[in-house]
Amino acid sequence: MKNMLVTGGCGFIGSNFIRYLLEETNYPGRVANVDQLTYAGNPENLSGIEKGSSGRYVFIKADICDQEIMAQIFDDYEIDSICHFAAESHVDRSIVSPDAFIQTNIVGTFNLLELARTHQERLQRFHHISTDEVFGSLGKEGFFTEETRYQPNSPYSASKAGSDHLVRAYHQTYGLPITISNCSNNYGPYQFPEKLIPLVILNAFEGKPLPVYGDGRHVRDWLYVRDHCTGIWTIMRHGKRGETYNIGGNNEMENITVVEMICDILDELHTGAENRSRRELITFVKDRPGHDRRYAIDSTKLRQELSWRPEESFESGLRKTIEWYLGHQAWVDRVKSGEYQSWIKEHYG
Ligand code: NAD
Ligand code: DAU
Repeated sequence: MKNMLVTGGCGFIGSNFIRYLLEETNYPGRVANVDQLTYAGNPENLSGIEKGSSGRYVFIKADICDQEIMAQIFDDYEIDSICHFAAESHVDRSIVSPDAFIQTNIVGTFNLLELARTHQERLQRFHHISTDEVFGSLGKEGFFTEETRYQPNSPYSASKAGSDHLVRAYHQTYGLPITISNCSNNYGPYQFPEKLIPLVILNAFEGKPLPVYGDGRHVRDWLYVRDHCTGIWTIMRHGKRGETYNIGGNNEMENITVVEMICDILDELHTGAENRSRRELITFVKDRPGHDRRYAIDSTKLRQELSWRPEESFESGLRKTIEWYLGHQAWVDRVKSGEYQSWIKEHYG
């Protein structure tokens, strides 16, 4: 792998992955980051990366659904590997307006697969980033394994399931060297504050209500984003072609517990302090339609076959994340005010 196409590299996980790849691994090649810069894409997530990577990084603003431009990029940068993050990623948005989810997540993935198929002679790896949400919802017991049947419940997870099936089919039918990873909920630096953890950190910091859906007893299995990135890179290098790997950190937590932990850490740090506990800001609100009750990932395959291990515990990762948001007020202000979008318009039209 010398010329890697990373899609969605200005989003939360994609930007963490590019930083990890270029700053922490001995990957010797180049990265072409293609991102459409939707509301979720922010080039500032990768500030400094161009300078630090001595010509090994290039950014191209483009839509993965645009066949012509993507074909040009494949040729111009002699793409030999793909790490595909680009997606509409927020479940709540998929409930209100699913169209973009179908376009980007299904049609966009199909478009990349077609390009990969027609450039197969030099393609080393097509790695597709997916989610545990494709498996649906668990009861009180059990875990998602790679054999769990797909049962997506939201337009978002259904669109991700559709793209997973296409990726798998391109291996079965055309022998494309694909791998797929299904990961649990990520948290960490650069996550857009529409998702639970950054939303609660910023609201709690500002003394605003902390919305908890339903009874707050829904369970998510949390993984620090850098641990997701090490898992992806492990699979890209050593994963067996045609295989799927679950990624997760055994950190099951009820939403209400996550929110309370954030309140307690912020209270302890005394930032912006009054003397009242931030737990008082917790507000139970109307539940999300079709809200999956519990996710829990079994990542034994990745741990046993490829010796992957997560490094961060939920407590240490959450504290790091809170400290990151408190230490990056300028980033937070630009994201919250929408100033980052004006900057994008000015620079990219
Ligand atoms: P994100 O919303 O933060 O970032 C998505 C990125 O994709 C943005 O930069 C956006 O501009 C870009 N994008 C969207 N549509 C595009 C298009 N048509 N063409 C080019 N770029 C486009 O998402 P994230 O949380 O970083 O998730 C990345 C991937 O990981 C997604 O595929 C998601 O399904 C998957 N995933 C996320 C999580 C999680 O907890 N966040 C967990 C498991 C899997
Ligand atoms: O499991 C992996 C998935 O995790 C990824 O595929 C998705 O891209 C990612 O967004 C995430 O999906 P969730 O729906 O689990 O994440 P979200 O942060 O939106 O919500 C986490 C839980 O918190 C969920 O049970 C809903 C709840 N919630 C969320 C928000 C935004 C609240 O109670 N209040 C909120 O304000």
